[in-house]
Amino acid sequence: MTPIQKCVKEKDTKINPIWIMRQAGRYLPEFREIRVKNPDFIKLCLNENLSSEITLQPINRFDFDAAIIFSDILMLPYGLGQEVKFEKGLGPKLGELNINKLEKINKDKFSRKLDPVYKSIYKTSSSPILKNKDLIGFVGAPWTILVYMINKMSPKNSLSKKIFEDKLFIKKLIALIVKFLKIHVENQVKAGASVIQIFDSWAGLLEENIFEYIYEPTLDLVNHVKRLGVPVICFPRGINDYKSFCEEVKPDMVNIDYNIDPKKIINEIKIPVQGGLDPKVLLTNKENLNIEVIKYLQIFKDHPYVFNLGHGILPETKIEMVEELVKIVRDFK
Ligand code: CP3
Repeated sequence: MTPIQKCVKEKDTKINPIWIMRQAGRYLPEFREIRVKNPDFIKLCLNENLSSEITLQPINRFDFDAAIIFSDILMLPYGLGQEVKFEKGLGPKLGELNINKLEKINKDKFSRKLDPVYKSIYKTSSSPILKNKDLIGFVGAPWTILVYMINKMSPKNSLSKKIFEDKLFIKKLIALIVKFLKIHVENQVKAGASVIQIFDSWAGLLEENIFEYIYEPTLDLVNHVKRLGVPVICFPRGINDYKSFCEEVKPDMVNIDYNIDPKKIINEIKIPVQGGLDPKVLLTNKENLNIEVIKYLQIFKDHPYVFNLGHGILPETKIEMVEELVKIVRDFK
């Protein structure tokens, strides 16, 4: 059994597997080297050899317990035929959204467009370095994908609340997104992903309709992953109430964000937990890192816990701080 599967299925508290969100990314010089030669981010995600190589870069360097496939949550709108571009400093930019066109996309066409992602998973999963490690496949949650598809850029840049007014349209689009997320997840598991993580980066935007737009569609997707037989981790970033999220959606594991008090979580949540550490702690110093990391490890010492951050690692993070982080986690217990 792989480390995350052990945590989920056996509720093993003796081990704290470790991996970090965005572990294959710009803080790694070997990633930057490939990236400058490949300015088109989507094309890079669709290059199965490079995507596989990038996925394994952080494993080669830090011996993490899990790899996460180098891809993006926005490969879903791309697969549906909506244009997706990444502009330096601006983040993602999506093209026109035409629901009539989207409704014409069928399963085969979608799967063919994303086939390099699945080939990359297949290739990576058979790599000897991943023996006894997890290979995590992932998707964005229905709500977060909907936000990007309608807003056409990160809500961090700008967001018009008006886009949530047409409820009928939203319901129709969410149903379509869920249908294709299920296909995307299934293809990833068939290709060799041993765990699926669902990123709901913009769960915190919603103040109402949380049941309709977050809990119900995510539960539908979670049940689909469970039927495929692999553990499913949810990351509802920024949501106020992790307890009711877990009770309603019932993931196998929940990733907490760095604004959440881990002491409150340990009292409220029975399922295995992942993450929490503020990625900014990695920008401070080793003494402070030690204090903050031990805090999480102590709180979760009798709870199945996968060490991770409360959001993606920052590009300016120093390699030696990540090495220190792994050492602290491995030396504990
Ligand atoms: O190492 C890994 O974690 C695996 C790969 C991965 C990427 N994106 C690669 C990536 C994963 C799991 C994601 C998830 C993702 N993508 C999320 C959910 C997690 C989160 O951050 O909230 C979201 C919202 C996206 C959409 C996205 N992709 C944005 C907003 C951006 C631009 C901002 C940024 O950090 O640069 C991306 C680009 C992106 N996806 C990069 C990487 C390594 C940076 C690309 C570059 O080199 O410029």
